[in-house]
Amino acid sequence: MTPKLPPTILVIVGITGDLTKRKLLPAIEQIAKTGALSDQFRLVGITRQPNVTAEDLIAKVPALDFLVDHSEIMTLDVTDLKAYDRLKDRLVQIEQEFGTTAQRLFYLSVPPTVAQPIIERLGMSELSKHPNTKILLEKPFGVDLTSAQELVQDIDKYFSPNQVYRIDHYLAKETAQNIVVFREQNSLFKQTWNNKHIERIEIIASEQIDIQGRSAFYEQTGALRDLVQSHLLQLAALVLMHPPKADKLQDIPQRRLEALRALQLPKNQPIESVVQRGQYRGYAEAVNNPGSTVETFVSLQLESTDPLWVGVPIRLTTGKALREKFTEIRILYKREEGYESNELVLHLQPNESIELYMWAKRPGYQHIVSPHSLQFSFKDHYALFPEAYEQVLFSGLGSDHTLFTSSEEVLETWRILDPIQKYWSTHSDDLILYEPGSDVREVVPDWNHMPISHSSRSTSS
Ligand code: BG6
Repeated sequence: MTPKLPPTILVIVGITGDLTKRKLLPAIEQIAKTGALSDQFRLVGITRQPNVTAEDLIAKVPALDFLVDHSEIMTLDVTDLKAYDRLKDRLVQIEQEFGTTAQRLFYLSVPPTVAQPIIERLGMSELSKHPNTKILLEKPFGVDLTSAQELVQDIDKYFSPNQVYRIDHYLAKETAQNIVVFREQNSLFKQTWNNKHIERIEIIASEQIDIQGRSAFYEQTGALRDLVQSHLLQLAALVLMHPPKADKLQDIPQRRLEALRALQLPKNQPIESVVQRGQYRGYAEAVNNPGSTVETFVSLQLESTDPLWVGVPIRLTTGKALREKFTEIRILYKREEGYESNELVLHLQPNESIELYMWAKRPGYQHIVSPHSLQFSFKDHYALFPEAYEQVLFSGLGSDHTLFTSSEEVLETWRILDPIQKYWSTHSDDLILYEPGSDVREVVPDWNHMPISHSSRSTSS
């Protein structure tokens, strides 16, 4: 049975935004359906726009039921410190209506430039000091190492680390959570999860969508900051970390941090030989900046100094406007003399599944072996598949930090990428133009990291 969550006031700043409608409201509704939310739950949506009502909002999202009786809207200018007194009074009133104190969650579903003054005002108004107050923050957390350090300092001024929940929705994807379980609980993989057996690791997030009109955001961000700094490095950390014991899952963020600390760009290799970037044709016109060098595609190689992983190239690749939408982690096992190599593929989305390429003799008179895939698809076995934001909210409401990134992790990820950002700030001739709809493997001219399953090679002897 799903555990009951404590009395809660969830304040969402940015209530009229796209994320709230697409993800957050349906996620709350889904959590309510499990019975985890009591009647002592209230969503307080904050907006600057006058005349927005909870009814209007609810009417825009299909199938909301619980929220009809558990939400309200406050029109409030979040840049005005005095407005926070009004908010404070309302939160006290709601607790009186509950007949008990409640945990208070401030979910800032707003761009970082807006989030920063809100964090400050929550601190200055002392709302941050109220017992059991949490703050949930959306990425990006800074744009480089220096800005991330400043942001961390600003937040630390008013909130203690255990009050802060930094969201990386990839960590909350069901298949991402399964990485640790899968590699730990299966002795076959647990024993071979190291550089003695693994030749290389590929993490690919291929997106079909382009920047979808988010010109201003994307011009300041690019693929490296948007997906690599957060989602892909976190997935790499889950693959590389030394997992804690099953009864110490709360140590996962610390273990991810240790994995990130050991990651670096390959030493003694020029940046341009280990990082490739691309831009889809039409991007510069779409953002109305003909000289834009912002990358919509990036592929980079990393290495780990952890003795368990020394010598194993780790490649992260992502791009927009590509042929297919998929995210996968490919673990290529070593090919020993006289044997074939195996490949394990963790498909994070879509078609969440685990696939293992094995070699088998083809039926027939000749001795021909070919790779075949064994595939386990989660949807064939389980109907319930929580959406990542459902998991994010459930964990935040339940004070579980496992699926959130700490400030130390954020700083480590920027440390890893810092040399690339510095290199790109003075170079632009390495930008590859690619056609929208290209295959993720076609963008970089010599994609020499091709996994065996794509080569479909068969060997005869
Ligand atoms: C977001 C990025 O964090 O993740 C987007 O800002 C990207 O640019 C999105 O499209 C991808 O998420 P998902 O869950 O659809 O793979």
